[in-house]
This record gives sequence, C-alpha cells and structure tokens, in this order.
Amino acid sequence: MTIEIPGNRIVIASHNAGKVREIRELLDPLGLSVVSAGELGLEEPEETGETFAANAELKGRFVAEGSGLPALSDDSGLAVVALDGAPGIHSARWAGPERDFGMAMEKLERALAGKSDRSAYFICVLCLAFPGGGADVFEGRIDGDLVWPPRGNNGFGYDPMFRPEGSEITFGEMTPQEKHAVNHRARAFAKFLAHLKG
Ligand code: IMP
Repeated sequence: MTIEIPGNRIVIASHNAGKVREIRELLDPLGLSVVSAGELGLEEPEETGETFAANAELKGRFVAEGSGLPALSDDSGLAVVALDGAPGIHSARWAGPERDFGMAMEKLERALAGKSDRSAYFICVLCLAFPGGGADVFEGRIDGDLVWPPRGNNGFGYDPMFRPEGSEITFGEMTPQEKHAVNHRARAFAKFLAHLKG
C-alpha cells in the first residue's frame, strides 16, 4: 500500500497504552516507522476542547509541533444515550487519576439504575497533523448496548461492558482482530486511509 507521509515516519499522539497498541496494529500494514509520543518523552497536553474533534486536533497539533513529525492523535469515548451522551469526552476522567475502569464501569452502572434504555456508542476522532501545517480529522462510530456485569479481559477502558450491535459478545471478550473488524477506531482509520490514498 502506498501512502503520502513525508519521511515515512509518524508519531502516535497518545499516552493511552490501549489506544497506542490498537493504532500501531492499524498502522502496521502501511510500512511506516511508528513511534509514540511517550517514547519521544513528550508530555500530554491538557484536553480543554469541548468536542472529540477539538481534543483530537489539540493533541495532534501539540505532538506534531513537539516532535517535528506528522502526528496521528485519537480522541475517543463512550456516549450513553440515556445519560445524554455522558461520559463522552470525559470518558477517561470518569476512571479517576488511577485510571480505574472497574470503578468507572460501576459508576456508569449506578447512573443507569432504573433506566431501560442501555444503548450506547463509541466515537473515535483521529487527527492527522503536520508540523507547522494543516490538520485533518476523521470520525468513526460504533453503536451497541451496555451489559452488566462486565465480561472479558481483552481490550481496555469500557470494553468489557460494551456489546456492539449484532454481536453476542462484548469488546472485552473479542480478540483484537474481531474488535478491529468493527470498532470506532478502525472505522475512523478507514476514512484516514481513504484520505491518504485520495
Ligand atoms: P481520551 O480520548 O484520551 O480522552 O480517552 C478516551 C477514553 O474513552 C479512554 O480512556 C477509554 O476509557 C474510552 N475509550 C475510548 N476508546 C475505547 C475503546 O476502544 N474501548 C474502550 N474504551 C474506550
């Protein structure tokens, strides 16, 4: 596959190990040299945006400027319909400074008490940013519902609670390949690839 990334090097603008792993796997077939922001010793910028796209762009631009390389960032989260889209852009913050997603899922389950609508969706916005240059964003979404108790130890974050539409098993029970076949990040990534090829 031929794509247009100057210098054939790209930085993954994330410090989330689960996301870095998934993005690395998605980038793998492209033959690029891939490094993460953490490996370059770059800090994480504060996420002050009010939308996934604003935060993705902020992270992408920050890392592109800091590294002097094209950067691919990800801002993503879980939106629960009965909670008016919460936790949404605050998905990571619900897990507290310890990033305790067992606790975040319990908090979510408590917030859903008495509600019959358990539908939810994951959103991922990827941003490709160039040093001193432009930034393009690509959005992917996957709909599903929330199960309780959480099931499976694969993936990260809210995966054990999320069952995508048409599936009997949760993201936490899926292999990485099964999750990549349908998830929000892979869907955003497909748009990113179409853009590069176009
Ligand atoms: P941020 O984009 O770094 O603000 O963090 C997004 C948060 O959303 C992550 O820390 C996870 O809690 C959650 N999240 C995003 N994508 C996924 C996913 O694929 N599976 C499970 N949780 C996710």
